[in-house]
Amino acid sequence: MSQYVIAIDQGTTSSRAIVFDHDGNIVSSGQLEHEQIFPKAGWVEHNAAEIWNNTREVIGTALAQANLTRHDIVGVGITNQRETAVVWDKNTGVPVYNAIVWQDTRTQPIVDELAADGGVERFKQKVGLPLATYFSGTKIKWILDNVEGARERAEAGDLLFGNTDSWVTWNLTGGPDGGVHITDVTNASRTMFMDLETLAWEQEILDIFGVPRSMMPEIKSSSEVYGHVHTSQLLREVPVAGILGDQQAATFGQAAFQAGEAKNTYGTGCFLIFNTGEEIVHSKNGLLTTLGYKLGDAAPHYALEGSIAVTGSLIQWLRDNLGMISSAPEVETLAASVEDNGGVYIVPAFSGLFAPYWRSDARGAIVGLTRFVNKNHIARAALEATAFQTREVLDAVNADSGVDLTELKVDGGMVANDALMQFQADILGVPVIRPKVTETTALGAAYAAGLAVGFWNDLGELSSNWAEDKRWEPSMDSAERDRQMRLWKKAVTKSMDWVDDDVK
Ligand SMILES: Nc1ncnc2c1ncn2[C@@H]1O[C@H](COP(=O)(O)OP(=O)(O)OP(=O)(O)O)[C@@H](O)[C@H]1O
Ligand SMILES: [Mg+2]
Repeated sequence: MSQYVIAIDQGTTSSRAIVFDHDGNIVSSGQLEHEQIFPKAGWVEHNAAEIWNNTREVIGTALAQANLTRHDIVGVGITNQRETAVVWDKNTGVPVYNAIVWQDTRTQPIVDELAADGGVERFKQKVGLPLATYFSGTKIKWILDNVEGARERAEAGDLLFGNTDSWVTWNLTGGPDGGVHITDVTNASRTMFMDLETLAWEQEILDIFGVPRSMMPEIKSSSEVYGHVHTSQLLREVPVAGILGDQQAATFGQAAFQAGEAKNTYGTGCFLIFNTGEEIVHSKNGLLTTLGYKLGDAAPHYALEGSIAVTGSLIQWLRDNLGMISSAPEVETLAASVEDNGGVYIVPAFSGLFAPYWRSDARGAIVGLTRFVNKNHIARAALEATAFQTREVLDAVNADSGVDLTELKVDGGMVANDALMQFQADILGVPVIRPKVTETTALGAAYAAGLAVGFWNDLGELSSNWAEDKRWEPSMDSAERDRQMRLWKKAVTKSMDWVDDDVK
C-alpha cells in the first residue's frame, strides 16, 4: 500500500490541502478561497471560522479525489500566511474578532507610539524585525485595546493568540477538547516577540506591548510530532508533524537547505529568502532576519528575507477593483499587445513600502501618464512592478552577503507567466529557474512532516526530488536594464511622503 503526506497551505487568498507521494509529486488537492474583508481603507480582515471550515473541506476534497482514507496518510504538515493574527476563546473556540491580516495598516499609531522611545529599530537586534504594522505584535495589541472585554478575558487566561498555523493546528487536534496550542519557530519569528537566539518569548517585549504570556502558543521546532488529529476529524489520529510559515516552507520545498541558497516566491506578495545557515545575520540593507527552519532538536537555520507586500495582489486589483481583466492570466495578453510600458510605472505601495524601504508613509502611485497610455500599458506596468521590486530586494541580498547570487529559483502562482519571468531575468541580469513542482509552499510543509515521521530520512533525499522545469536567460542589454531601474527608482520616490495627518 502506498503512503502519502498531506500538506495544509492556509494562505492569504485561499486554503489548500495537497497530498504528496514519496517522490514529492502532487497526487491530489483541494482549494477554497475565503472572503477578503476590507472594512476601511488600510484594513484587511479574514473570518477565522470560515478559514477553519474551508480547511476541513479541502482536506476532504483532496482525500476523496485520490480515493484515500486516513490510513493512507502518514503525517500532516501545515504552512500558513504568516503574521495574520487570530485571537480566540479557548473554552468555546470562538474568535473574539476577525483575523487581522498581515497587509493591514491600522496599527500605525501603535507603531508610532512604541517607536517614540528608541525608534522603529528598538527591538531589531533581538527579534530581527523593525517595528511595523506588518507583524503580529501590534495586531494582538490592537485587539486587546479595542475589542470590548478582550483584555480582561486575556488576563484571566481565557484567550489564545495564534497565526493561522496555530489556529488550524489547535482546531485539528480537538479545539476546546484538548487542542494543542503551539507554533513553530518560523512563525514565532514573525510576531516581534521571539528572541532569535534563545527561541523563547521575550517577556520584556510582551510587557511593553501589554500582551499576557498565557495567550502565546508554545514554540516548537518545524519538524516533530506535535500531536494527533482529533477523533472527530477525517484525518483522525494522523500525526501533525510539521509547521513552517509559507515563505520558509517554499524555501524548504525548493530544497534551499544550505547557507547561500535562495528562492523567490511570487504570490499575493513576493518574498525572497536567503539562507544564512546557523548564523544570525543582521541586514544593513532593509532585509529582515528570520528563522529558516529547525528540524527537531537540531540547530536552527536562519535567513535574510526581502518582503514585498504587493505583487500578485496588484493583478487581482486590476481584476477586482478596476475590472480591467476577468482572470489573472489575461494580464499577460494585454501586456503582450504593446511593445513596452509606454513610460508608465506602477508603485503598488498599498500597505506602504516593505523591503528594502520600510516606508509606511508611502501609498500606491501610477506615474508617467500621458494621453498615449492605454490599459495595455497599465497591465504591462503592473507586471513589471513585480520584477523591479524583486531586483531591489536581490540587490539588498547581494549587498548584505557580499556575494552576488548567480541565479534565482522561483515559484508561486505568478511564475506561470512567461513574459513576467523573461522580464525578471532581463531586469536581474541572472537566469531565473522554475522547478517541476511549483507548489513549493505545500511541498515544504509536507517535507517537514514527512521527515518527522520517517517517511523521508534526510535532506539529501529531499534534494534529489528537486528537478528543473524551465529556465529563462537574461537577454536585455545592460544599458537598457540600468535605464529602466533608474526610472523605477524615480517612480518609487513619487509614492513616498503621502500619508500625513490629513490622509485617512
Ligand atoms: N498568469 C498570471 N499572471 C500574473 N499573475 C498571476 C497569474 N496567475 C496567477 N497570478 C497571481 O498569482 C497570485 C496567486 O499566486 P499563489 O497561488 O502562489 O498565491 P499565494 O500567495 O500562495 O496565495 P496565498 O496568499 O493564498 O498563499 C494571485 O495574486 C494572482 O493574481
Ligand atoms: Mg501561498
